[in-house]
Amino acid sequence: MVNISENYATRIGSLCYTYTAETTRDDEMSNVAVLYASGITKNTEKIAKYIGSKVDADLFDLKNVSLIDLNEYKTIVFGTGIHAGKPYKPVVSFIQNNKGQFDGKDVKLFICCMYNDEKGNNQCSKVSKELGIPDAVFFNKKEKEMNQDGIPLSVDAFIARL
Ligand SMILES: Cc1cc2nc3c(=O)[nH]c(=O)nc-3n(C[C@H](O)[C@H](O)[C@H](O)COP(=O)(O)O)c2cc1C
Repeated sequence: MVNISENYATRIGSLCYTYTAETTRDDEMSNVAVLYASGITKNTEKIAKYIGSKVDADLFDLKNVSLIDLNEYKTIVFGTGIHAGKPYKPVVSFIQNNKGQFDGKDVKLFICCMYNDEKGNNQCSKVSKELGIPDAVFFNKKEKEMNQDGIPLSVDAFIARL
């Protein structure tokens, strides 16, 4: 039995078939896949990794991989930063090209952004509609309530729904 947290690190950014070949885990594949794209500040990646560590999700960096078999996952979480009101292109492209893979699955979206309150809500609703993912939340690194890890408490609330 190999330490799960070590494997977690090796799984990041792996294609699904690579994941199967590389991993030495002897338990079942995770139910949750987190697919994300992050920019230079890596805020989205930080949140994606935090979520992954809490629910033992498989992580996929969509800047590195675009062919992912989601068949085995029950829950698909997308994460993206926002530039000029738009989610990052690798996330948009993956969703457009893989809609058939989402049938019957619980699909959620988180966005990392600088807007808060009403502006943040409006932006989140717009992006949620554009991507066709109604279950969407936004996180801001300047949120008032943070947990011990310096992560917004709203992220923990999101994780509780996974
Ligand atoms: C050029 C640029 C444009 C941005 N535009 C927006 C925006 O329109 N709305 C917003 O809420 N945040 C905006 N932001 C803030 C980022 O979305 C935010 O810092 C996010 O956490 C970045 O995530 P990342 O580090 O994963 O790329 C912008 C940041 C930059 C650098």
